[in-house]
Amino acid sequence: MSKVVHYARTGRTGVITVEYPPVNALGIDVRTGLIRALEAGLADDGADVLVLTAAGRTFMAGADIREFGKPQQAPGLPEVVARFDASPKPVVAAIHGTALGGGLEVALACHFRVALRSAKVGLPEVKLGLLPGAGGTQRLPRLVGVRNALDMIVGGDPVPAAAALDMGILDVVEDGESALEAGLRFAERVRTEGLPARPVSRRDEKIAGTDPAVFADYRAGLAKRAAALFSPHRCVDAVEAAATLPFEEGLKRERDLFLACMDSPQRAGLIHAFFAEREAAKVPGLPAGTATRPVRQVAVIGAGTMGGGIAMCFANAGIPVRLLEVTQEALDRGLAAVRRNYEASAAKGRISAADVEARIGLIHPTLSYDDLADADLVIEAAFESMEVKKAIFATLDRVCRPGAILATNTSTLDVDEIASATGRPQDVVGMHFFSPANVMRLLENVRGRRTAEDVAATVMEVARRIGKVGVLVGVCYGFVGNRMLHQRGREAIALVEEGASPAQVDRVLTGFGFPMGQFAMLDLAGIDVGWRIREERRKAGDPDALAPNWLDRLAEQGRFGQKTGAGVYRYEAGSRKPLPDPEVESLIAAWRAEKGITPRTVSDREILERCLYVMVNEGAKILEEGIAARALDIDVVWIHGYGFPAYRGGPMFWAGQVGLPAVLEAVERYHATLGGSPWQPAALLQRLAREGGRFGDL
Ligand code: 3HC
Repeated sequence: MSKVVHYARTGRTGVITVEYPPVNALGIDVRTGLIRALEAGLADDGADVLVLTAAGRTFMAGADIREFGKPQQAPGLPEVVARFDASPKPVVAAIHGTALGGGLEVALACHFRVALRSAKVGLPEVKLGLLPGAGGTQRLPRLVGVRNALDMIVGGDPVPAAAALDMGILDVVEDGESALEAGLRFAERVRTEGLPARPVSRRDEKIAGTDPAVFADYRAGLAKRAAALFSPHRCVDAVEAAATLPFEEGLKRERDLFLACMDSPQRAGLIHAFFAEREAAKVPGLPAGTATRPVRQVAVIGAGTMGGGIAMCFANAGIPVRLLEVTQEALDRGLAAVRRNYEASAAKGRISAADVEARIGLIHPTLSYDDLADADLVIEAAFESMEVKKAIFATLDRVCRPGAILATNTSTLDVDEIASATGRPQDVVGMHFFSPANVMRLLENVRGRRTAEDVAATVMEVARRIGKVGVLVGVCYGFVGNRMLHQRGREAIALVEEGASPAQVDRVLTGFGFPMGQFAMLDLAGIDVGWRIREERRKAGDPDALAPNWLDRLAEQGRFGQKTGAGVYRYEAGSRKPLPDPEVESLIAAWRAEKGITPRTVSDREILERCLYVMVNEGAKILEEGIAARALDIDVVWIHGYGFPAYRGGPMFWAGQVGLPAVLEAVERYHATLGGSPWQPAALLQRLAREGGRFGDL
């Protein structure tokens, strides 16, 4: 008998149990084991009904993603599913936790499905650049109709058991604790009530007479919201096959479409993103089990947009937080913004009115540093100035209890210098949230030169508790994310100076898959923020400071972006839609004339190469310097902090897909024509390109 799938009998019911932690993924051993266990059940004369269940925290969570991209070992999942479908004895799937992807597909091939109320079921393959490839696109529509099936398969979000019951995916939902018990009870009903065990593959009533307009509608919607994605379109094709072809032919069509998705670079990118997100939490040098400090009471300094958003992150996770401001007026303003935010979520039905009050109730406003004495973690989110931050940290050093973690939300400043304002640099760390902090999933945790190990481990653990993707990086200007963004921004400004329009640069970046272009993003964040930082750096005589440019000139005129109704683009009242502005075109033309620059036609290809390869080159330097431990950390920062398209796997993974020799050739070309340190090829890029490696091979 298989080590990971067991067969045993309870009364007259044969029980097949999958036990393959952590999530009972359908790897080769599970697939083989399932077939053997089914054969054992069929051969067991003492069993007339079978129950399929899983041990541990969840039912089967899908195919084993780690096997993708490698040669498939038989039996494949479709074969396992076909065996259950054809079972002469009725099989009841008993579901707890999540039945996802291939896991749900196996359950759909069973004759009945029961689940605990806490369970969820779904076909999330599309999120990995795939479609359900073991009959899910053919069976689900037969249970729930085409429209519901499209929503679940193209959307990919799991549905709670109660909704799955209403739709017809499940036969029974129970409130108990044990899916096995529920399955055994249902098996008894099958036996005594003689419930008809008709395989889903033979039920056509829900798909008969499907109006073809449903597919046309769906495709029109996808053309608008997911034109660049590969697999959602194939999902629609597969569901259409369910409604138009006999079952077996539909399965073949599903197979072909599944294999096409499997071969797509988007599948590779999305699966890289899936694992990278999970690997980022496992920091080299901080083994699982590294001691952490308890965090029960948090404090946030600064109730501006950032501080308020950070406070919300903790309140959302049920952790009490003190919110400190210098004046009552600023405090009131900050709290009012927090309330507005929560009320907007309640209006959208995301949280209840009671949640709004409960969460606000966890945020305790204060004007006094003395109230921070009991905080386990203090996060400073004050004005981005070294002087201001050092003063705050000196105060924290005085008022906070020994062992409290003192974190700064700085996005560019030197965490080590901030730590030097205290007598306890081992307790100081960076926690760089992204705006809006209550929405963006990235938390770039910055480990200073003297940050203690347990402090680094604690802030990574805190990221997990508040539902963020934490990435641990080292200290340098802008850390990982903003350091690379800075290079992209510099190129974007230069490209416009040379002849491109801001709209062209943005169109190329959104065409690549970013939700926003460089300049639209600047308008959203506020041009003044970068302008002030550039000015500070110039005043400080920083050799890396950017020379004055046309963007500074915009800022000098008070065009700060969306908040002033005008920035690189203009905005109509109440709208966030960037509109090209003739005034900006004239300003840029005047700037070029002043500098003696004759504008040239800049190709889209040059824009893409310069904006992205400069980032990849910088990323390679970040790796060389050990600021990021692994290329995947950089990928995670860019996917979750800056909207790098997940289907391209992040900048470093994408560079590998392009081919590092091609990237290096371009970097060398731009170095020769443009010069400057950003285009100086990184030694790591040179080595990997020469050796035929990728950044992930490090
Ligand atoms: N294959 C292999 N490993 C998997 C896996 C899978 N399908 N799903 C999760 N894991 C691993 C994770 O990598 C992680 O490993 P680690 O501990 O070594 O880092 C571990 O299981 C636990 O996962 P999470 O940290 O994500 O745990 P959570 O409890 O937060 O979430 C989950 C559990 C909801 C099951 C989540 O892991 C998930 O969404 N998994 C992916 C589900 C999925 O996409 N299934 C479809 C697969 S494709 C398919 O089935 C194709 C078929 O149609 C032919």
